[in-house]
Amino acid sequence: MSALLEIRHVTRRFGGLVANSDVSFDVAPGEIVGLIGPNGAGKTTLFNALVGIYPPSEGEVIFNGQPIAGWKPHRIAKAGLTKTFQNVALFAESTVLDNVVTGGLVNRSLPEARALAARILDRVGLRAIADKRAGDLSFPERARVEVARALCTEPKLLLLDEVMAALTPIEMEEIITLVRGLRDEGMTFVVVEHHMKAVMKLCERLVVLNFGEKIADGTPEQITRNQKVLDAYLGAGFSTDAEAH
Ligand SMILES: Nc1ncnc2c1ncn2[C@@H]1O[C@H](COP(=O)(O)OP(=O)(O)O)[C@@H](O)[C@H]1O
Ligand SMILES: [Mg+2]
Repeated sequence: MSALLEIRHVTRRFGGLVANSDVSFDVAPGEIVGLIGPNGAGKTTLFNALVGIYPPSEGEVIFNGQPIAGWKPHRIAKAGLTKTFQNVALFAESTVLDNVVTGGLVNRSLPEARALAARILDRVGLRAIADKRAGDLSFPERARVEVARALCTEPKLLLLDEVMAALTPIEMEEIITLVRGLRDEGMTFVVVEHHMKAVMKLCERLVVLNFGEKIADGTPEQITRNQKVLDAYLGAGFSTDAEAH
C-alpha cells in the first residue's frame, strides 16, 4: 500500500529561522489528515514547501511516486498537488468565474477550463455569485472561491489552509460536507484549521506541529489525550467546543 504523499525529513529555513525542522509523515490516498499547532508552528510553511512556493531547504517530498521537492509550483499543481492560500489572493477586478477559471488553465484549454469552472461553482454553491467582482466579496465568500479555484486545478491532493476561519457554524458544516463528498469521489486532503470541533469532525488523523517540529501523529482521540499536545496547543480544560489558538 503506497502513500500518495511522503514527506521525508523536510526542513525549511528563512535565514536563521527554522520554520520546519525534520518533518516526516505520509498521507495515504483517500485520507483527510488535519495539520494542527499554534500560530507560527510552521503549518503554512510546510504547505508552501510541498507545493513549491518555498521549496524545502532539506529533505524529500514524494508525491504519487515522484520526487517533487524543487519543482516549480505550476508543475506540482499539474501533477495533482495544490493548496489554498490562507490570505486569499484573488484577482480583485475579475469575476468569481474568471478567478476559478485560472485554476483550470493548469491542465486545460480555456473553453474546457470555463466549463469545468462552471461545474465547480455549482458544486460548491457559488453559482449565484459567478459574475460578481472578486474584490466585492465577503471574507467567507472569498474563502469558498479560493477552494473552488484550487479544485479547478483537479488536484489528487488538496491542502486547505484555514478555509473555515471566519465561517459561521452552518457554513463550516457545508465545507465539511463538501470535503467529505470530494474524498468519497477519490480526493485526498490535508487540512489546517484552528477550529477544533471542525477538525475533529472532518479529520481521521491529526499531525501536530510545534516550533516547526512534528510532536504527534495519531487519531483525534489519541491527540486529545497526548500530554505534549495539550501542553503545546490544546491547553488545560480542552474541549472540542473551543477554538484553539
Ligand atoms: N516567507 C517567509 N519569510 C520569513 N519567515 C517566514 C516566512 N514564512 C513563514 N515565516 C516564519 O516561519 C514561521 C512559521 O510560520 P507559518 O508557517 O506561517 O506558521 P503557521 O502557519 O503554523 O501559523 C513563523 O515564525 C513565520 O514568521
Ligand atoms: Mg498559517
